[in-house]
Order: sequence, then structure tokens, then C-alpha cells
Amino acid sequence: MNGMIHASRGSLSLAAHVLRRSFHSGKCLASSAASKLKTDRPLTPEEIYAREEKYGAHNYHPLPVALERGEGIYVWDVEGNRFYDFLSAYSAVNQGHCHPKIIAALNAQASKLTLTSRAFYNEVLGAYEEYITTMFGYDKVLPMNTGVESGETACKLARKWAYTVKGVPKNKAKIIFANGNFWGRTLAAISSSTDPSSYEGFGPYMPGFELVPYNDIPSLEKALQDPNVAAFMVEPIQGEAGVVVPDQGYLTKVRELCTKYNVLFIADEVQTGLARTGRRLAVDHEDVRPDIVTLGKALSGGVYPVSAVLCDDEVMLTIKPGEHGSTFGGNPVACRVAIAALQVLEDEKLAQNAQKMGELLRTELRKLPVDIVTTVRGKGLLNAIIIKETKDYDAWKVCLRLRDNGLLAKPTHGDIIRFAPPLTIKEDELRKCADIIQRTIMSF
Ligand SMILES: Cc1ncc(COP(=O)(O)O)c(C=O)c1O
Repeated sequence: MNGMIHASRGSLSLAAHVLRRSFHSGKCLASSAASKLKTDRPLTPEEIYAREEKYGAHNYHPLPVALERGEGIYVWDVEGNRFYDFLSAYSAVNQGHCHPKIIAALNAQASKLTLTSRAFYNEVLGAYEEYITTMFGYDKVLPMNTGVESGETACKLARKWAYTVKGVPKNKAKIIFANGNFWGRTLAAISSSTDPSSYEGFGPYMPGFELVPYNDIPSLEKALQDPNVAAFMVEPIQGEAGVVVPDQGYLTKVRELCTKYNVLFIADEVQTGLARTGRRLAVDHEDVRPDIVTLGKALSGGVYPVSAVLCDDEVMLTIKPGEHGSTFGGNPVACRVAIAALQVLEDEKLAQNAQKMGELLRTELRKLPVDIVTTVRGKGLLNAIIIKETKDYDAWKVCLRLRDNGLLAKPTHGDIIRFAPPLTIKEDELRKCADIIQRTIMSF
């Protein structure tokens, strides 16, 4: 089935390669600078770029800034320049860089017991499981590490549930995704992707995945009528697609349809969850309860890879001992860090702050001329603008100048810039940032 999805797609996109257009003059510069690095003096930013270029895989295209330190909403580069962080490591640093309570939890547990594997019990895992399931109102949690693993786990749970509870014939279960989805880089995750730079060249793809347009209820209803559908996995706001916000009421309708057709509603809250959009979960904006929720990123405040899948017993207990796991999933450090990260979200009322600061930010961004900034969208502190490209500027150039003016943001899909600062940002700081963005854009 998934072969069909991919056969219908166009040929290889050059987007990834275009994105790689180098800010260095090329390989020669990279290797000559890197060869001079064996020295005791601190490296210059150029040397840091060159060393990564020489020794690291070229699977990213970072903005040229070499960071050394972070605290709260700020990061500093190796030359001591301070920047507002308007990416927050793709929403992993919701609580701010190096939050003292989260770092204290990390340090305390790191010197006591770090890893037992799940071959044995440890005294922290259950405390974390009780804490997170109580907080989100689900029977059980399955701990993993990265966001993509939580998505993978959710898909496995959905298939197992389809065979053992719903009665789907063996190996016939289907999972529906929305066009523009992003849930990571594994072979399963890219098999549901509609972005050629994610999937092209990595086939064959996972069977049993199908796509419907995002924010399109009639198409979803048609797809869900197939009795072999196990689940619909969807982001409440599509983050990597460029902060695509569906119509008000979409999630409510998704919930109704999934219930009507006995299909699991999986909410991928890896990016939108944990206060980022102004609620604890983005689905809370519509008061809907998914059957499965995936969390990652800010579940550790950005200090450690921690992810989780939440659901009730009917789904979770379909997976039996030995059928799924991870050496590091649920380790004591991860559990202590995650408890601290969740406590900070609550204690500091970060969802409320994100809601308020987000409204303020979008109000300021909407003052920009619409012939340059054609769109401002988002919820809470997950926001994006679309830049109308000309021969003089594009989103990449805007981000370079934002950096020069002390604010770090990253373009996506060529013309979109995401603005997602740590949720701890205060009003005066946010106003200063809005001023930097306005001044930068007006300078073009
Ligand atoms: C919605 C969503 N799901 C899953 C992931 C994958 O998370 P990770 O990169 O930790 O595997 C991402 C990453 O950006 C994401 O935005």
C-alpha cells in the first residue's frame, strides 16, 4: 500500500541539497582549517564549523554560530556573544537552558545509579510512571528515549491492538497519517513522509501506511471506513511542516470519527506537547482525549533524550514481556530528569506564560509589512512566519541577519522561519525580541 504512496510522488527533490549550499567556500577551506586545529587556544567559530564539516556526516546544515553555553532563554557563542534562542532545540528546551532544578535532578541521580536496564526493577521508574500517568490521566506509560521511538512504539501498540482487540486479520493493519507529517527519521517514520528530502533514496518503505490530507475531515472519514484501519496518527499542529495550525474543531472531529470507526487516535505531541502551544498538551485546546499520546523533546527539558507513550490498559497491555523495549528506556536518570522537567512546567505555569507571550508575539509580528511577511501563524510559543522571497532576501538571509542582531532562529522549507523561544521568556524580553525581528526584517 505504501508503495502506492511513494510511486505517486515526484522525483528526487533537490531541497536538501539546495539547503546544503555552503557558507564555507568548500571542501578545501574545510580541510585546511581543520588540519590546523591541534592547538591549545580556543577554536574560532570558523574552525569549529570546519571541524564538523570534515569529521561529521553532512546530514544537517547549521546556521553559522558556534555555541558554548546556555542559560534560560539565552545562549552564548565561543566569542562571548549572547543570543536569544528562538528555536529552543526544536521545542526541547521549553523550560529554558540548563534549568537549575532539572540539572540538579540529573546530577543527583547521575552520581547514584544511572542504568539498570529493564532486566531489574529500580526505585525511580515506578515513581516516574505514577507521576506522569497521574498528571496526564492515562492508565500507563511506556518509556522510550527519542521522539521517533515513541512514534514507533505507538504504531506497534496500534497494530497489536488491531490484531488482538479489534480483530483485524493478521498483517493487514493500516495506520493513517496526514500529508506533511513529521515524526522522525527511522525507516518507519520516513515511510509515512510526504517530504522527498525525508524519504527519497531510502526505500523500500514500510507497508500498511496510508496518507490523507491534513485538516481534511471528509478524506479522513473515507479512510477510516476501511475495517483494517488500526489508528490515525496526527500532530495537533504540524511543527516541522512549518507550524501548520488546523481549523478550530479539527481535533474534535478527529476524536469523533476515530470513536465512530473504532480506530485509535494517536496524538503526536512530541513537539506540541508540554506547554509549548499554551496548554499542557495541544489537544487540550479542544478538550479532546486521544487514545495514545506520544511525548519527547521537552520531557527532559532538553538535557537528556526521554520520550514516552501514554495510553490506557486496553491498548498498553496488548504488548507482553519481551515484545518491545529499549536498553535505556526508563533508566533512573531519565526518570528523575523527566519528573523535574514536568514539575518545572507546572510550578512555573509555563503553559499560561506561553499562551500570553504567544499572543503578544503574533500581535507584534502582524505589524510587519505583508508584502515581506505574508503569513504569521501559531499557537502559544510555537509560531512561524512566511517570508516572501526576492532576489535580495530569503528566509536563510533573514536568519543570518537575525543572528547578527542577537537572535537565533532557523528557516524551514526555504521560506518559513519558526519562532519558538523557551517558555520562560518574560514580557520585556519578548518585546525586545519582537523589536529585533521587526528591525531585522525592515532592514531588507
Ligand atoms: C512531531 C514530532 N514527532 C516526532 C519527532 C521526532 O523526535 P526525535 O527527533 O527526538 O526522534 C519530532 C522531531 O522534530 C517531531 O517534531
